[in-house]
Amino acid sequence: MKRLILISAITLMAAAPAARADQALATSKACMACHATDKKLVGPAYKEVAAKYAGKKDGVATMVGKIMKGSSGDWGPVPMPANVNVSNDEATKLAKWILTLK
Ligand code: HEC
Repeated sequence: MKRLILISAITLMAAAPAARADQALATSKACMACHATDKKLVGPAYKEVAAKYAGKKDGVATMVGKIMKGSSGDWGPVPMPANVNVSNDEATKLAKWILTLK
């Protein structure tokens, strides 16, 4: 039992910095200039994006494509330009992080 508690504590400690690192990545890639986690700015709140893609089997792949190539017509009249400074790996990290925000 003690060991189980210890393992859960370690898992929790490991998970929290990972989420912060992904938010830092989003900030460093200027995503947060147009997005916030819980309210609409220029782009939709990441919470709403997470709700849209939650449980969709190709959700991460779809988001990665849009993060890298841009997106238009899904949320309103303003398009998202392609984020050319983001690698496939980084886009995957960001998409998975966004999905944790719902
Ligand atoms: C110049 C402003 C801007 C920047 C910078 C930006 N976005 Fe967006 N983003 C938008 C807008 C506007 C939309 C809505 C586009 C639409 O209606 O299809 C959007 C939509 C999205 C979506 C949802 C796409 C969908 O299929 O519903 C995701 C995911 C996303 N952005 C992630 C990111 C990430 C990650 C970054 C940083 C690498 C980023 N965005 C940078 C403006 C921006």
